[in-house]
Amino acid sequence: MNKDRYQVLVSGKEIAIKQEPDKTLLENLEDNKVEIHSHCREGFCGTCRTRLISGEVDYIIDPLAYIDDDEILPCCCKAVSDITIEIN
Ligand code: FES
Repeated sequence: MNKDRYQVLVSGKEIAIKQEPDKTLLENLEDNKVEIHSHCREGFCGTCRTRLISGEVDYIIDPLAYIDDDEILPCCCKAVSDITIEIN
């Protein structure tokens, strides 16, 4: 069973997020005052593109923007483990 609280290491700073079932990783990061750029918030534009260094995410909606193997789109996924991400 998945936990509902995860540790997220963002560019060296550790925060704990509560993964609400109806919220995306982007919304959770924003709730925790993490500065992250976004635009469409639906996986089209790629503005929220973020490097996933470790951990796992699950996509709520399929991302349409181009992403590399080590990148995620926080606007359309949620954490399913503790994760380490690097936000530009
Ligand atoms: S905000 Fe557009 S892809 Fe995430």
